[in-house]
Parts: sequence; C-alpha cells; structure tokens
Amino acid sequence: MAVTDHPDFDAHEAVLFVADRRAKLRAIIALHDTSLGPALGGVRMYPYVNEDAALTDVLRLSRGMTYKNAMAGVPMGGGKAVIIGNPRRDRTDRLMIAYAAQVNQLGGRYVTAEDLGMSLADLKLIARHSPYVTGVADADHQGDPGPKTALGVYHGIRAAVQVALGRHSLSGTSVAIQGLGNVGWALAQRLHADGAQLIVADTDATRAELAAAEFGARVVSTEEMLTTPADVLSPCALGGVLSAHTIARLKVAVICGCANNQLANRTAGEQLREKNIVYAPDYVVNAGGVIAVAGEYLGQSTAAGINARIERIYQTTLDILERARDEQRATSEVADSMARRILQDARLGRRPPPLTDSLSLGSW
Ligand code: NAI
Repeated sequence: MAVTDHPDFDAHEAVLFVADRRAKLRAIIALHDTSLGPALGGVRMYPYVNEDAALTDVLRLSRGMTYKNAMAGVPMGGGKAVIIGNPRRDRTDRLMIAYAAQVNQLGGRYVTAEDLGMSLADLKLIARHSPYVTGVADADHQGDPGPKTALGVYHGIRAAVQVALGRHSLSGTSVAIQGLGNVGWALAQRLHADGAQLIVADTDATRAELAAAEFGARVVSTEEMLTTPADVLSPCALGGVLSAHTIARLKVAVICGCANNQLANRTAGEQLREKNIVYAPDYVVNAGGVIAVAGEYLGQSTAAGINARIERIYQTTLDILERARDEQRATSEVADSMARRILQDARLGRRPPPLTDSLSLGSW
C-alpha cells in the first residue's frame, strides 16, 4: 500500500523512512502539519513487529501532536519519530548520533524530544549532535515532562468535575487511576493533596501497593479498573482503552487522563456522550509536558510562566465541555473542530485564532 493511501495518512506534509546500516538505525520521521511552526514531537523507540506497525503508530502520534500543540496554544506544528528497535537491546551511542544526523537533514522543520523507550541521557547525546532537540535542559521546570503532564491532567479533572458534577473542589471526589507511572504517580500526589479518594491499578503490583501506603488508595486489579464505580476514571497507562465493549461497562461520570489516543475509534466519543459520561479529550489535557518542552525550545524559561500556560488547560477544557454540552456534541468532536479551526486560521495568516481567551497563542 502507498503511504498516501494509509488510513492514517491524513495529508501529512512529509513521511521520511530513514536508515543508516552501519549504525543499525531504522526510523520513520513524520511531519503532519507545520502551519503553526516547526513540527514538535517526541521520538519513540519500540520493537515494532514490522514497518507497517511503526508507520501506523508514527502517523497517529504525529497527527495527535498537531492537535495537541494547537489546543495548547503552542506555536509549533505536529510531528513524531519512531526508531524501530528494542530499547533494552539495540540502543547504542552510534544509533543516537545517526538519528541526530537525520533530524539535522530536516533543517529545523522537525524538533525532537523524549518519548517511550528513550532516556534523558539519549536525548542529551542527540542534543550534542543536533540543535533541533528539546526537553534536555537541567533547570528545575524542565527535564522529565511527566510531572508537567500530570499538572495539566489535574487541571483537566478540575474542569471536568465542575461540569459533570457541579463541584468546585476535588475533596471527597473518587478518582480511579489506571497506571501509576511517571504521570499517574505525580497526578495521584496532587489529587491526594486535594482530598480526593484514590482507587488505583497497575500491572506492577508494587506501584499500586506503594500508592495504598502513601495515599490510602484502594487497590483494584487491572481487570476491575474499567468496571469500578468512581466519579472519575483517569487512564494513565495505555491508549485505546475506550471502546464500545469497555464503555458499556463503565461506572464513572468523568474520564480524564494522560494516555494518548484513549478512544479506540471515532465512534467512541459519541458513545460516551450517549452514556452521559463527560470525556475530557486526551490531547487537550495531556499537553503539560509539551508546553514545558516547547517553552524550553522557544526560550520561555521561567517555571512560573510554564505553569501559568499549563493552568490554561483548565479553561480550555471547561470551554470544550460546556460547548459540547450546549451543542449536544461529543467532546472529542468539539475539540477536533476547534483545533482544525486554529490550523485553518494559521494557514490563512489569521492570528491569534482565539476561539476562547484560553487559546490565544500570545507571545513565547
Ligand atoms: P510510564 O511508562 O511511566 O507509566 C505507565 C504505567 O502504567 C506503568 O507503571 C505500568 O506498569 C502501568 N501499566 C501498564 N499497563 C497497565 C494496565 N493495563 N493497567 C494498569 N497499569 C498499567 O508512562 P508515563 O510517562 O506515565 O505515561 C503514561 C501514558 O501517558 C502513556 O500512554 C504516554 O504515552 C502518555 N503520555 C505521557 C506523557 C509524559 O509526559 N510522560 C505526555 C503525554 C502522554
């Protein structure tokens, strides 16, 4: 199948298959849309079963970055890279340097950052060979984007709980967190500090037990997680968790978490609406990390400035959810149409887009 016929192609500006035999590098770099600026998105290293699987992943993720950056008010486009390989076995300095050379060939049209399978040390090595890297500074607000992503999800939960349950505080609100990794754990800390009651599940039982000890969380099995009654479900592990099958069994009022591509397909958003579940679109609420790394690349260097931008996720989420309620549309559809409008305005040279104050690009 031609790449342009791929179901997830979605008019990508460029899709590059790159290889360096000596360095054993095989990678795909996808640039979805640069209307708002150079494409920004992480590089993932993963043992894909074949090139098709890698292509599908990179196309979906890079498109997601376009929408995420647009809705976060980040003046950068969407892109992503995947390195085909096992991060435990195939990671070498030579491979990272060869990847840097490929990024350089794009002359700044793509800016790379950390994603699954890559470490900060890998990115720092790449940064020694390429200027088009971010998320590598050591200042207190930078480096690991997980806590920044958690901060954005926390603001998203506040907004969604306000719309769905009419509550202005999270005290006493039950939140079921699926996955206590980098983001999930930092989110649990914030929610616990606000008096939320936590329910947790992780395939790594020690993480869940730790959360029970630290936050008084109730531990459920990974199977029970999606059928457990709670005010909020926060998917913080995997994508694709919201399908017709799982939605039929959910017993929550709100869904708001950090995992990318939570909706298994396009109809899932509408199914959630029909079930009266308020879904905070993933790419809107999980933009905290990218706001921080974009800030680093664009020279916005204060932690307070970055946190203020992340806090806007609260207002953006509120705007989307209220509009969806008023227009009786799926929240995912409303967010997509708002993002598309921002991109269209940028292409037409109209700036700032503001559909809402919270989406003003402002100056970086
Ligand atoms: P992580 O790898 O640190 O944590 C994932 C956690 O989920 C691990 O503790 C793992 O044991 C657990 N897990 C895996 N499968 C599970 C299952 N079926 N049920 C329950 N727990 C399970 O990853 P991180 O960085 O916390 O990211 C989580 C998700 O958020 C990923 O999908 C990632 O792509 C997405 N994301 C992360 C961002 C970041 O800044 N780290 C930014 C935007 C999205």
